[in-house]
Amino acid sequence: MNIACIGTGFVGVVTAGVLAKLGNTVIGLDIDAKKVESLKSGIVPFYEPGLQELLVETQKIGLPAQAGNLTFTTDYETAIKNADIVMIMVGTPSSPDGQADLKYVFAASESLAPYLKENAIVIVKSTVPPGTNQKVREIIKGKTTVNFEMASVPEFLKEGTAVEDTLHPDRAVIGVESDRARDILVELHKPLTTNVVIMRPESAQMCKYAANNYLATRITFINQIADLCEANGADVQEVIRGIGEDKRIGKHYWYPGLGYGGSCFPKDVKEIAAYAHSVGESESMFIKIDDLNEKRIPKLMAKYDKLVGGFAGKTVAILGLSFKKNTNDTRVAPSLQVIPWLLEHGAKVVATDPKAIEEIKSLLPPSVSYVSTPDEATSGAHVTMLLIEWDEYMGLDLAKMASSMQDPKYFFDTRNQYDSAKVISAGLNYKGIGR
Ligand code: UGA
Repeated sequence: MNIACIGTGFVGVVTAGVLAKLGNTVIGLDIDAKKVESLKSGIVPFYEPGLQELLVETQKIGLPAQAGNLTFTTDYETAIKNADIVMIMVGTPSSPDGQADLKYVFAASESLAPYLKENAIVIVKSTVPPGTNQKVREIIKGKTTVNFEMASVPEFLKEGTAVEDTLHPDRAVIGVESDRARDILVELHKPLTTNVVIMRPESAQMCKYAANNYLATRITFINQIADLCEANGADVQEVIRGIGEDKRIGKHYWYPGLGYGGSCFPKDVKEIAAYAHSVGESESMFIKIDDLNEKRIPKLMAKYDKLVGGFAGKTVAILGLSFKKNTNDTRVAPSLQVIPWLLEHGAKVVATDPKAIEEIKSLLPPSVSYVSTPDEATSGAHVTMLLIEWDEYMGLDLAKMASSMQDPKYFFDTRNQYDSAKVISAGLNYKGIGR
């Protein structure tokens, strides 16, 4: 199939690469010429495992005289005129009232409309509130006389495993208005998954909000349980093992910590809360979830401050600056709240990360020192805080760390990755979450 992917952000690039790998002819479009030039030479402006290789493979970079089936352009006519399927995957920043700002979705709709092919299917893949397709349809109709259909196919990929998630999704949710669009989109997704759930576009859009908000609620839930465990000597990891055996609850995606971050959950919870308000649901639980998540880090830092006898004058080693492992994305990363808190309370901060040091530097005060290894960070520190469970931080030499740190030699394991007994026997003080 001929496919146009509008927007070469995270979802756009991964989707374009994967659809091209399946043998489709794909054109990725972005209005940012610098980005397009970079993608044409196979260079991805962010770190995502396997993505660069996918772009090199599908564009056949380095293989002269062979055109790949993925190309990039800044020109709407080039991208749209032959496309059977047009996917809108542009950003939807939050507006001041918390709702999704759809200006880029609408601008893309207006730009693509004049070049649309007869019977093309226009898919809104950006996360948007239900009802957006109607507005997009009206915008396109104002600029074309061809027949076209609207559809909604939300994306469920995770950063850090985006290529794998797109190649092997748990399911494809396809929101369509006709049997024809259903058949075409089922066919398109067949090489990826046969677990296809067909519904109307509004339901597909709600699926995306429901999935992300359920997961964010689940994280908030286990964080609350963890806090209760701390009050009574229970260990939340044992509680997770116990409840996970209940098939209705399940064993996965239970990592208590500093709260959820990244570019999606914080934004999607605020959006659904604002959306609920806009349709008259003022008692929405999502307002509370958002509030609890916002307050989580200051609450835990105040607790840690007491444990170490005050952070003032202490050196703190921070391990992990991105919002999670295997990405250099720092949007709503715990480090962006933890480090300013420590500096405001008189601590000196030495930070490290395998991929995100350059990305975080401009977002933090200049007094933060950066080093390239955990050994350098922890040597001489009074406190070590593991914020992100990068593989590089999983087998730390605890005895070496203990001998190079200064009293009170506290190890805050905010991802519950270490066995507390082992940490303590190595000569460190240990504090996990909910244990
Ligand atoms: C999330 C969803 O998982 C994807 O399905 C969705 O497609 C994506 O948002 C999106 O809307 O684009 P992502 O933000 O990449 O993906 O990352 P997650 O791995 O889900 O983690 C989100 C945040 O929750 C991170 O801060 C993570 O540390 C935190 N988290 C996750 C926990 O605190 N505990 C957990 O058990 C799991």
